[in-house]
Amino acid sequence: MLTDGTIGVFDSGYGGLTILEHFQALLPRYDYIYLGDNARTPYGNRSFDVVYEFTRESVERLFEMGCNLVILACNTASAKALRTIQQRDLPGWGADKRVLGIIRPTAEAIGTLTRNGHVGLLATEGTIQSESYPLEIRKIYPELQVSGQACPMWVPLVENGEAESPGTDFFVKQYLDRLLQQDPDIDTVVLACTHYPLLAHKIRKYLPKHIQILAQGPLIASSLQNYLQRHPDLDRHLTQGGTTRFYTTENVDRFTQSASIFLKKTIKTEHITL
Ligand code: DGL
Repeated sequence: MLTDGTIGVFDSGYGGLTILEHFQALLPRYDYIYLGDNARTPYGNRSFDVVYEFTRESVERLFEMGCNLVILACNTASAKALRTIQQRDLPGWGADKRVLGIIRPTAEAIGTLTRNGHVGLLATEGTIQSESYPLEIRKIYPELQVSGQACPMWVPLVENGEAESPGTDFFVKQYLDRLLQQDPDIDTVVLACTHYPLLAHKIRKYLPKHIQILAQGPLIASSLQNYLQRHPDLDRHLTQGGTTRFYTTENVDRFTQSASIFLKKTIKTEHITL
């Protein structure tokens, strides 16, 4: 039996904030707990076993803190840890608890946007190597041509506060050029890492104007709304005080400063050890 609880939002660092802000906008009445594992970011170049272990620890902690539902607001964790957590760990944590990833809803949205069927994916090395996106997309839209480009420098640049610096332009342009070399006909580019919207203006600057950019925040928020409507038993047990608590495994002041700038409001952060 579920007791009343909150919605947990997990990412390896700041990236999940680009999803959380859309939850807060579309579903403002719910209570959220955000956990950023900034001490161990980036996850993108780590092995399956390590990403699984780090993600499992974070999700378990969010359940201990009173969450009934945890969203992996991280593509790398969704690609490498979601299935194992759902199959191996979730039954032991309580039959009514839920963990959701963000790859499936993104894959569903892609086919409705591209006009010519040529899609480009920008993601971490781990997400690209897992093949999770092409596999999910092929199940729904077998006719799409999907090209993936790993961007291993982008998350470290964001996590180190370099998103605005001129040096970042070099790496933004480099990976976009590589993506378009794979398929010059791409008309839709998916930011398949939740950190990448923090580089969106630079990505826009170096992509030809006719290419549309898909960021996950709005579509994941409406997918959560839809999920809650379809699961009234869970929804009934989610508290609705409109609050958000922030936790980081790294330096609290640094997280508070960066997250407050991004969310355009002053937040308070607490430290957590996993
Ligand atoms: N934000 C995460 C994602 O969506 C990746 C960050 C990382 O490499 O740690 O994939």
